[in-house]
This record gives sequence, C-alpha cells and structure tokens, in this order.
Amino acid sequence: MLDKTKPDWWKSAVFYQIYPKSFQDTDGDGVGDLRGILSHLDYLAKLGVDGIWLSPVYASPQADNGYDISDYQAINSDFGTMEDMEELIAQARARGISIIMDLVLNHTSDEHRWFQEACKSRENSYHDYYVWRDGAPDMPPNDMKAAFGGSAWTYVPALGQYYFHQFAVKQPDLNWDNPAVRRELYQMIRFWMDKGIEGFRLDVIDQIAKDPDRKITANGPRLHEFLQELSRETFQRRPGLVTVGEAWGANVERARLYSNQDGSELSMVFQFEQMGLDQQPGGEKWDLAPLPLVRLKESFAHWQQGLYGQGWNSLFLDNHDLPRIVSRWGDDGKWRVRSAKMLATMLHGMQGTPYIYQGEELGMTNIRLPIEQYVDIEIHGMYAERIARGDNPADVMASIYAKGRDNARTPMQWSDGENAGFTTGTPWLPVNPNYREINAAAALADPDSVFYYYQKLIRLRKEHPIFREGDFELVDAKSEQIFAYLRRTENETLLVACNFTGETVPFVWPEGFGEAALLISNCGEPENGTLRPYEAFMLLGRR
Ligand code: GLC
Repeated sequence: MLDKTKPDWWKSAVFYQIYPKSFQDTDGDGVGDLRGILSHLDYLAKLGVDGIWLSPVYASPQADNGYDISDYQAINSDFGTMEDMEELIAQARARGISIIMDLVLNHTSDEHRWFQEACKSRENSYHDYYVWRDGAPDMPPNDMKAAFGGSAWTYVPALGQYYFHQFAVKQPDLNWDNPAVRRELYQMIRFWMDKGIEGFRLDVIDQIAKDPDRKITANGPRLHEFLQELSRETFQRRPGLVTVGEAWGANVERARLYSNQDGSELSMVFQFEQMGLDQQPGGEKWDLAPLPLVRLKESFAHWQQGLYGQGWNSLFLDNHDLPRIVSRWGDDGKWRVRSAKMLATMLHGMQGTPYIYQGEELGMTNIRLPIEQYVDIEIHGMYAERIARGDNPADVMASIYAKGRDNARTPMQWSDGENAGFTTGTPWLPVNPNYREINAAAALADPDSVFYYYQKLIRLRKEHPIFREGDFELVDAKSEQIFAYLRRTENETLLVACNFTGETVPFVWPEGFGEAALLISNCGEPENGTLRPYEAFMLLGRR
C-alpha cells in the first residue's frame, strides 16, 4: 500500500475509473450500483490500484448519465443510498483505495432545485445562479452551439429570457460570476470531504468561466482566479487531497498553471491533445483519420518534457467518453491481447499518474449497434444533425462505431455467464457479444492475460523510482512504426519500446542495454534488431 500521509502520494499512484451505471448490477434492474462496486473491491485491490475515480453517483434524471445533477448531496436511487456510499468509502479505504468523486461544477440538471427556482421569476434569489440573456422567442442572443447539438440557448417564455447551456438543454450552465454560486459549491465539496472523499475529478473545469457575450467557453478570463479560490476554500484544507481537472482546452503552458508546484490550483489535468490526432484537421472527432504515429510521439514528448519539474501529467488512453483504445490504436482482432499490452506499456512507462478505465485491463473492445440501441445523448444529437445535413448514413454509423461514447459504456464483462455476469435483468445498454471470450473470470485464470500485465505495470511503477522521476527522450522519433523512448535518472536508464504495427520491424537498441534488466515484455525475450508484431518491452539499465 502507498504511504498516503505524503502530500504528493498521488504521484506514485495508479487510479481506476468506474462508470457506475455499467460496472456491476446487484438488484436486477439492469443498471450498475454501489453495492456492485463493493462486491468487486477485492478485484481492484488485486489489480493494485490506489484509488477509484467514480463517475457521478449523485441524484440525477440521467439525461447525460449522471453528468446532469439534480442534488449534489444525495445518491441516485438507482445506484443505492448514502449508507452504501459511506460503506464504499470505508471498505475501499480498508484496502488502501481512495475514492475520488466526480464534480460537475459547470452545470446542473434543469431538475435541480436551484434551476426550478431560477425559472420562477427574474427576482427569485436563485435566478442569477444561471446564465440568462433577454431575447425574443426566435432570436437567441447569438449563434453558439451546444455540445450535444442545437443552440446553446433555450428560451423560457414565462421569463422572456434564454438560459445558456454548453451541453444538453437539460444541463443549464451555472453562473460562476455569482459569488453565492461559488459559496454553495464549496460547501457541497466540504460535505463530501467530511465524508472521507480523498480526491475529485473536475468535469469540464476549463469551461466554468464562460463569457457567452464574447463567445468564450473554455479558458475564460476569470478561470484561474476561480480555480485558486475553489482550491483555497476546499481542497487545500486537506493536505494530500488529489484533484484532476478535465480540460479539453489545455495546452502545456496552461497545464503548468493548473498543476503548478505550489499547489494553488489542481494536482493535474486531463488534456486531450493526443486524443484529437486521429481526426481530420479542423474537423470534429467524428471526421475520422488514421493515427499519425510520428505526431502522437511528438505530442507525448512535448507534454512529458513540458511538465517535467514544472507540473504533473495525467496518463490515460480510455475513459467513459472515448472509444476503447485496443479497437482505436491497437488491433482488436488477431493481436488483441498483445496490442492491448503494447498500448499499456507505451503509456505506463511515462511520467505522470495513470488512469485505467474499467475493462481496459481486460482489453475490452468497441461495439457496433443499430442506431436505435445506442443510449448516448451525444451520439443521437450528432446522428440527427449529420443525417439532416445530408451525410451518408453508412458514414455516420462508421463514425459512431469508431468514436461513439457508448463503446466505453457497454457493461463490464465479468464472466461468460448470462449478460457477462453484469446483471440478472436486462442491461441498460447491450453487453458486447464478445464477453464469452473477453471477461474478468477468464483473465484471472490466465497468467498471460491483459489483467496480469496491468497488475505488473502497476507494481513496477511502485518499485522503480525512475517511473516517477526520470526525464523523457524519444528514440527514433521519425519512425512511423515504432514508439520508443528513454527515461533517465542520474544512475539508471529505462528503455520503453513499442511496435504499433502488425508487422515485424527492425529495431536496434540504443547503446548500453546489452546487460540491462528486462522489466516486462508482452511476447517473451526481446531481441536486439527486431520488434515482432505489436511487441513491447521495458529494459532497465545502469548509467
Ligand atoms: C464531460 C464528461 C462527459 C459529459 C460532459 C458534460 O466531458 O466527461 O461525460 O457528457 O462533461 O457534463
């Protein structure tokens, strides 16, 4: 177990993201629940993770699967009760696992009491909790678009005003310029800290300081002022609390501010530069393009070097908004197991705090469903828009198969039993039919499984300080097949080598690794001179 009394313990930690709706159902309603998570804590302890990032479990009408909160201080009844939550915090802690909660501070549900009050009149004390502009029924204040389709403005006839929402109509944006809003949110965060929550993931945090009159959403002028106040009023009161902000608009310079060494804002951010590489330049994620490996390497190198000694990286390939990485950048057919391990090797050799998304440790894959079986609000919003503008339906479906968020949200595959052991009822989203082959029970029974490979990577990071401290340099940066790099401390050098293709490719080791120790590999002893299809390894040498 990690020594969590050190304020920066999270720099040696590995976290695991749970999407509660899809993790484990225990009451047969087809929706995962907190007791389901409780039932798998030993599985997570076996994997070796130090914390769970729990996607939202608050009361919510579930228009965006919990990212639309109607009561921040209540548990969604589908997921269980406050007692279940308290038990989860305690049982997890007993296993050295911290609970990191998801904080959605940019918006609430339209069913939140604040918004219901806000809609009653312009004079209501909650009215200014949200972002309103006067207007006529067919004349929104401007042409800003919402992330899930349609205008970012929705008209409330009784008030003669529009409210602003960056996401769905049912997710009105909070007005952070109002100090009363900020105070309420801080109080709510302290409520959870008092319950024993040891960290927070902050949803779309770079969008809180919006300025719709100037069409600014991310990185608004008051963003860092707000973050510093938030941190002072809440997180800093508990040394060692870990925070990670979701920041699609982050670049290295901004990330240095967010994760600066004086701890005045956040521990780290999730940035998405790498996740935007396999799409058409200037397009959306749906506009597919092959992954340019050279640019992927440059981007990782830029972040590794840019935050070295000046901030801290988060490391992830998957989450509940992204497709499954083995289907995306690996080969989910013939080389599924090997390429899943290769991708993990590439990431877990770097400096930062890794996050594993449920099922990634099994090499779970994308799914293909007929459009009506998808649940995600984003998929349906995009589908409607693109069909309306005349796109070819087959192309739209290809985009959904590749990038749709429901790829990540299909139920966790626990066994080869009915519904993959996820539920005895009807799952809210179909189980991937490949569960008979890909499931946790099979992985636990196979010493060569993706699961045990992740377990080993997690252990290695704790055993060798070089993972936390070493610098970063690409090897063979121009190679379009191989992703290789060095990490160096004063007396050690780590070589991480990964073949991103299904071909055998030449690869001569940099000098000095003849006597090096093999830490891990995904297909036996590596040979100096070649890399087999999707081969990956780590060698640790002395300097
Ligand atoms: C974040 C969440 C995503 C959600 C959105 C709006 O991007 O990760 O799932 O839909 O914010 O809250």
